[in-house]
Amino acid sequence: MCGIVGYVGPRDAPALLLEGLKRLEYRGYDSAGVSITNGGGLETRKAAGKISKLESVMNGSPLHGTVGIGHTRWATHGAPTECNAHPHHDCTNTIAVVHNGIIENASTLKAQLEARGHEFRSETDTEVLAHLIEAEYEDDLEGAVADALRQVEGTYGIAVVSSRDPDKIVAARKGSPLLIGVGEGEYYVASDASAILQYTRQVVYLDDGEVAVLSRNGYQVVDLRERQLQKPVTKIDWDLEQIEKGGFPHFMLKEIFEQPQTIENTMRGRLLLEEGDAKLGGIDLPAEKLLEADQIIITACGTSWHAGLIGEQLIEEFARIPVEVEYASEFRYRNAVVTPKTLAIVISQSGETADTLAALREAKHRGATTIGIVNVVGSTIARDTDCGMYTHAGPEIGVASTKAFTSQVVSLALLTLKLARMRGLSVVKGREIAEALQKLPGQIKQILDRADEIEQLAEEFKRAPNFLYLGRGYNFPTALEGALKLKEISYIHAEGYPAAEMKHGPIALIDEMMPVVFVAPHDSVFEKLVSNVQEVKARRGTVIAITTRDEEALEGKVDYEFRIPETIEALTPVLAAIPLQLLAYYIAVKRGANVDQPRNLAKSVTVE
Ligand code: F6R
Repeated sequence: MCGIVGYVGPRDAPALLLEGLKRLEYRGYDSAGVSITNGGGLETRKAAGKISKLESVMNGSPLHGTVGIGHTRWATHGAPTECNAHPHHDCTNTIAVVHNGIIENASTLKAQLEARGHEFRSETDTEVLAHLIEAEYEDDLEGAVADALRQVEGTYGIAVVSSRDPDKIVAARKGSPLLIGVGEGEYYVASDASAILQYTRQVVYLDDGEVAVLSRNGYQVVDLRERQLQKPVTKIDWDLEQIEKGGFPHFMLKEIFEQPQTIENTMRGRLLLEEGDAKLGGIDLPAEKLLEADQIIITACGTSWHAGLIGEQLIEEFARIPVEVEYASEFRYRNAVVTPKTLAIVISQSGETADTLAALREAKHRGATTIGIVNVVGSTIARDTDCGMYTHAGPEIGVASTKAFTSQVVSLALLTLKLARMRGLSVVKGREIAEALQKLPGQIKQILDRADEIEQLAEEFKRAPNFLYLGRGYNFPTALEGALKLKEISYIHAEGYPAAEMKHGPIALIDEMMPVVFVAPHDSVFEKLVSNVQEVKARRGTVIAITTRDEEALEGKVDYEFRIPETIEALTPVLAAIPLQLLAYYIAVKRGANVDQPRNLAKSVTVE
């Protein structure tokens, strides 16, 4: 949520920052800005709207210099206007600050600063930082930043430049990700490696409470008491092509089509077919911890939470450990029962979701052993969990999560296999699951080869004002996920329900205008689901069924049918999710929506 990039070195900073902001645009895109120190002073350009707007402003009124910072915003405090766009300045325009996160005591600090004569121009919490730094500025910028941050409550990833100290950038982090890019005689700061990957692969991840000072001569990292720290340099091993569209019209479609490969990557080196087991090097806990666990809490947000609901069924069915799935935003403030025998599984694509991170910390604080299922390598959640497994889905740029979801479900299936085999699941049963997992990439490919059928379906339904998604058992969460995909990118109102719950209320909505998507593979609840299909038909609803075979039971009862290959019941969500992702995608495109950057959303929600 929001993106930061900064540069100090010999090159033209404005062009480089603009390029970095374009790569970060998926994180927030309602306004943007750049500030450059150019020896003589500090100059800033800002624009409301997308980065292309900022680019036109900068073309009309170019900036020159080799040190600067930029920001793309997703509004939290104040409307997405040019005035509220970052960077923000102090009274004399000698300091520029870009900030991700929320300053919780901003109004108190603002009142104190105003009483001392500071004049504010924006409605943002960030501007408080610029004035605080101004108030603390004595000898150097880093000292002023550290003094200012000691007074701040809340979360921040910041980068600061000043014309009084024109050859440096000061960056600091608390609760919002930030890294330093290390080049040859040039250094970068970014909230996300994708902004700087074309220039360097060497990065230093900052931890909470750390302040970094970057100049052409190098960088230093200190804590808030200004004690010097030695930080490891990490090499990023993914490529720029992985974050480019590769011939697809949208990142979302590219990411949907990547799923045979990403699922393969999730399982690579982990699936033990012969043993019917999984080898998970990252879950390096003592065996007793896993054996003694008497409760699992899965916590996550959004799509990751839906994956968690599937994980609940997997773990309970095969490993026989009681599981609770909690919205991270609820769990963090709830007095949940957590004991040293609790395993808390934290699922996050970005590894930076503020609520999920807080839930992780809460679970830890209450004594749980924490396991991360995370996509972004080196992210905060990945680093803060006791152990974990990366989903290896590669960078996900489209705001709507697709390949990350299926990789999360497969990761949960692998983890289940490991837990279940430790707790007495037979080799035969283990092998059955392992073999089914191994077939998934090929089966996903078969579905993707028929994407045009879904595109036709989308043509039929692109004008529908509402949708219902229904499923049972393992596919109740799939129904929730299908509905979420549709609503977030097409802005069509869509609800997901356990199919049998429909008659306790939502059935009142059904008429000939209501398309109802049934996730109906041939599984243990299939017959029950057919009754629910009949209930919809009896009320003239239009039924779209995602099913597995030619079922007599469905004959004459469904209006449209899309068949997915057969797999074991527990893995049907992985296959059923694919046509639902495609349906949402094609409907959104046909309605002219911006599928990669839907309104009001951001890829990584780093505010509460
Ligand atoms: C929906 C979507 C969101 C995220 C949620 C959690 O398509 O992407 O619902 O799943 O914001 O994000 P992560 O997984 O990064 O913690």
